[in-house]
Amino acid sequence: MSSAATATSTSSPFLAACRGEEPEHTPVWFMRQAGRSLPEYKEARAGTTMLEACRTPELVAEITMQPVRRYSTDAAIFFSDIVVPIAAIGVDIEIVPGVGPVVAEPFRSDADAKRLRNLDPCDVGYVTEAIGLLTKELGNIPLIGFAGAPFTLASYLIEGGPSRDHAKTKALMRSHPDVWHSIASRLAAICGEFLRVQVEAGAQAVQLFDSWAGALSEADYRRFALPHSTAALAGVAKSVPRIHFGVGTGHLLEAMSETGAEVMGVDFRIPLDEAAARLPGKTLQGNLDPAAILSDDEPLLAETDEVLRAGRAAKGHIFNLGHGVLPDSDPAKLKLVVDRVHEQSSREASR
Ligand code: CP3
Repeated sequence: MSSAATATSTSSPFLAACRGEEPEHTPVWFMRQAGRSLPEYKEARAGTTMLEACRTPELVAEITMQPVRRYSTDAAIFFSDIVVPIAAIGVDIEIVPGVGPVVAEPFRSDADAKRLRNLDPCDVGYVTEAIGLLTKELGNIPLIGFAGAPFTLASYLIEGGPSRDHAKTKALMRSHPDVWHSIASRLAAICGEFLRVQVEAGAQAVQLFDSWAGALSEADYRRFALPHSTAALAGVAKSVPRIHFGVGTGHLLEAMSETGAEVMGVDFRIPLDEAAARLPGKTLQGNLDPAAILSDDEPLLAETDEVLRAGRAAKGHIFNLGHGVLPDSDPAKLKLVVDRVHEQSSREASR
């Protein structure tokens, strides 16, 4: 690492919080901060499909920067999608607006598992190029790279698209555990490589999204998901802080933190002080209800303050929403939250 990069990382509140050190203020960023709620995003994206946009480095850099410019967040999240590496190895997958990822030929068998070849960094040269552009433009603000966790990705591949109950996935796990583990271990290798590519290009932290892991019982999570998420995160162990997040995963916090992630993302259903008591010594990220952004200023600010208060119980706290920004969110409200977090937490630090 160059000396310039070292100087940058030591002055970042986000990276300090990841390491469990005292930052100058509580860092804040938002999952899905780049996207449908920003008029400048809609303008930049007009006429380009989501996957095309992800493969256009200048556009990726522009969209990644938009929320940082508008909100002064303490971190940028790379504009991409969890299905990008899967599409990059030749799986026929599309992102349908308003629906999500849709797979032309859903995965069912061992022969399907073999469609998941290893990712070569050359398959995603546009990612390396976009991150190169971004590290120049971001200056002091760290870039978070990310990947989808094997369970969440496998669910899209097996169901063929978004699913409420993940029934086909759960049936396959139980009936054909060998096929399941073959699919999930190949996905883990792809995720690990995708994270490595982003870190080598300049990402200073990563987040593994296991968005739908909350659909599993703890026993099933431990048997079918945990080993593969652990393998995916091992790809970048010791090089950068690793954040791990899932929705509705209150019952899985301890198990998910066994992946080795340095930071645990907490969704809005569990208060941060309760999560802190269960995960001593961990930095926590979260967890304002994304729907709170749609409320009036007074309740919104009161809830923001409550998240900050509960977050003080943790070794380190990175303020975020408890899931992604909702499409109808008013950018002015997100800015209000960023300013409140910075103001309240710097006042406290100077006390
Ligand atoms: O701002 C950011 O956080 C950075 C970019 C990002 C996107 N997707 C951009 C995107 C990130 C981190 C993701 C992760 C992602 N993608 C997850 C995990 C996070 C979570 O929400 O739990 C999941 C499950 C996906 C799969 C996916 N991709 C869904 C469910 C959708 C929404 C479909 C829709 O239109 O309602 C997408 C598409 C997508 N990914 C969009 C964006 C900005 C919308 C595409 C568009 O604007 O046309």
